[in-house]
Amino acid sequence: MKFGYFDDRNREYVITRPDTPLPWINYLGCQEYFGILSNNAGGYSFYRDARLRRLTRYRYNNAPLDCSGRYIYLRDGDSGKFWSPSWQPTRHDAEDYSCRHGMGYSIIGSTFAGIEAHTRYFVPLDENLEIWQLTVTNRRAARARIPVFAGIEFCLWDAQDDATNFQRNYNIGEVEVVDGVIYHKTEYRERRNHFAFFACSEPTSGFDTARDAFLGPYRGWDSPAAVAAGQLTNSIAHGWAPIGAHQVNLDLAAGETRQIIFLLGYQENANDRKFSPPGSQTINKESVRPVIAKYLSAKEADAAFDRLREHWDKLLGIFQVNTPDAHTNRMVNIWNAYQCMATFNMSRSASSFESGIGRGLGFRDSNQDLLGFVHMVPVRARQRILDLASTQLATGGAYHQYQPLTKRGNNDIGSGFNDDPHWLILGVAAYLKETGDWSILDEPVPYDNQPGSEAPLYDHLQRSFRYTLERLGPHRLPLIGRADWNDCLNLNCFSNTPGMSFQTTTNQDGKVAESVFIAGLFVHASRELAAIASHLGRSSDASRCLAEAEKMEQTVKEHGWDGEWFLRAYDHFGHKIGSKECDEGRIFIESNGFCVLAGIGLDDGRAATALAAVREHLATKHGLVVHQPAYTRYYLHLGEISSYPPGYKENAGIFCHVNPWVMIAETRLGHGDQAYDYYLRINPSAREEISEVHRCEPYVYAQMIAGKDAPAFGEAKNSWLTGTAAWNYCAIAQWILGVRPTYDGLEIAPVVPVSWPGFTATRVFRGVVYKIAVERKGAGNRIALTIDGVPVKGNVVPPPKDGRKEVSITAVLN
Ligand code: BGC
Ligand code: NOJ
Repeated sequence: MKFGYFDDRNREYVITRPDTPLPWINYLGCQEYFGILSNNAGGYSFYRDARLRRLTRYRYNNAPLDCSGRYIYLRDGDSGKFWSPSWQPTRHDAEDYSCRHGMGYSIIGSTFAGIEAHTRYFVPLDENLEIWQLTVTNRRAARARIPVFAGIEFCLWDAQDDATNFQRNYNIGEVEVVDGVIYHKTEYRERRNHFAFFACSEPTSGFDTARDAFLGPYRGWDSPAAVAAGQLTNSIAHGWAPIGAHQVNLDLAAGETRQIIFLLGYQENANDRKFSPPGSQTINKESVRPVIAKYLSAKEADAAFDRLREHWDKLLGIFQVNTPDAHTNRMVNIWNAYQCMATFNMSRSASSFESGIGRGLGFRDSNQDLLGFVHMVPVRARQRILDLASTQLATGGAYHQYQPLTKRGNNDIGSGFNDDPHWLILGVAAYLKETGDWSILDEPVPYDNQPGSEAPLYDHLQRSFRYTLERLGPHRLPLIGRADWNDCLNLNCFSNTPGMSFQTTTNQDGKVAESVFIAGLFVHASRELAAIASHLGRSSDASRCLAEAEKMEQTVKEHGWDGEWFLRAYDHFGHKIGSKECDEGRIFIESNGFCVLAGIGLDDGRAATALAAVREHLATKHGLVVHQPAYTRYYLHLGEISSYPPGYKENAGIFCHVNPWVMIAETRLGHGDQAYDYYLRINPSAREEISEVHRCEPYVYAQMIAGKDAPAFGEAKNSWLTGTAAWNYCAIAQWILGVRPTYDGLEIAPVVPVSWPGFTATRVFRGVVYKIAVERKGAGNRIALTIDGVPVKGNVVPPPKDGRKEVSITAVLN
């Protein structure tokens, strides 16, 4: 069952039923001002940091679902009926409801009682505000008097404090209302130099800023008393809950259309210019007035919208494909790339599953996200790499997270996730391959942000490499530390205390438990580092990396192989995890996917054997589960993984982040059909038809789909902010379609289904437009390349020497 459809031409998903199984959201903003917006106008806004600069309030985990937002109410002046064109919060049965989620904007509306209304929400580039462009059309045969109301609920900036510290917060709310603009200025009197504003393009017939006055006692946003009465009360909030609500009385002739613009924004003043007149307590509005005036003009708003569209055309234009499969095309060309940008902007902070008050930026997560967005925002990716590396510890280890506002490592979580350092190598490698900007390796970067500790980024990578070699266990495999990619495999945390954090508790000595997954990651990252070192002419570093990678590969074959697949780990007692000897958790996806991705066992049949076992034991119609059998009880020595009921999350859920490792592994064996089959099983668009089962948005990946052991098999959770976006993008773009940046040029190495006659692609790479046509002549993956009509050897296309800006490539598959 579907709740809408893809409009690929407009790069939109159009939701046609408001009662989606969960709020299906979109993101507004791509620089400093952001918002989450659901298909029913739910969500909230913030400036830079979803916890510390929250503009509007949101009630998480609420019943009914998703009921704080950017709400508009229309009222029939004659009958007194009122409704919301976005369905929520009044939930009237409207006609022609639709929500178009597009690139950085959404248009939501419906028709009720002959009155059609749609609102286009977006954040203009380079501005710290959002525009709501409401269009109302009278479809009745007669004149209609329609008072329109728009309302938001302000958050008192720190979203955590806002939701907990009521003894203070009920006393501090302050607003100003001047020239029809509502200003939210809680704490502006003291240490804040920022305020929010809510403005309206039309002369208003009333406002409210006190929630009690607007809603009325014991009433909700679904039936505000002032809207029911048809007249706002001009209330001024003192203490209690400040809101912003405007009223505009429309009088529409039959067929007439009117537009109203509402602006919600954020503004800062210099500390010495906060008040006007100086010495007063009144906000100095000098800097904000022109911005408000500008965007209250429909012409300016439209122009800003056009610029936003151009911005996305440009970003998405960097890689466009035309394959025989619509799901692939729309995910690669539109939604998967868009989701990668959301992970760049949000990391893991704000979604329907991340409250915006919790996690900072993960070291592992951010490095992996980079793989998916580096081609779109290379300059910002460069900065992200330097920020991440600056939090690296002198040991080569990493804080597991850092705070985006301070860019400091997060001490509460600390370090000791022994896979972390290697993701930095992979992130840097991806950056170098995309940009060819080798200068980044010379950048002086501190350790743990300590001034004076700066060393070239290249040295940081070397420390990442050594970190593992200095932490080998009894089998010479890498010690796991607190956990590896699987945050829930906590082999050194024996916890019997409810609520104790698995992520930060280490109460075993940590000298025994080893990870075969980290071994595979180490092999892969060390070979990347070797390539980087040889490019720099540091041949002894290169040889050392290669030698250690080789040694680790042998160790994996000796101690990390279970006969039919790669083991997952050794526990604190030196017992195997992910072995046929185990009762539960006999085979895992991570070690098998990553070891083969790293090339281990390609030469001796182990890779093929392992992937056959993955297929047999882990593949389901909804994707590959993390392990089998699921853990059916809590194991003290395994940690959080066994805390989840079978089939959910790390306990045998379908982790969409690691499925692509197996896809890539399959391409390394030349299995295009198998890789593509796995790709489609979790491709959100390909799952659109079963939206009632999948339940999350059909246009973006979710972190997890419940596995076959779960009663809700096939149900997705944690959509949007997940490493799934980047890895699936890499798997399809670079390994299945095989358009792959390398240090020396663009490599073309498709491993696509046998049934595909071919495909075309356009890739902008280092300033050159590559037009690629792949044609299948035989059933294999052998490739014959011509560049601008001239046959060439190999399959890497070097950057044109003569400054040409467009290159045409034909690749024949045989
Ligand atoms: C989740 C993991 C997550 C970890 C760290 C766990 O509860 O299952 O997916 O990475 O928390 O936040
Ligand atoms: C989510 C975390 O953000 C990611 O870093 C981790 O690898 C997965 N969960 C698996 O535990």
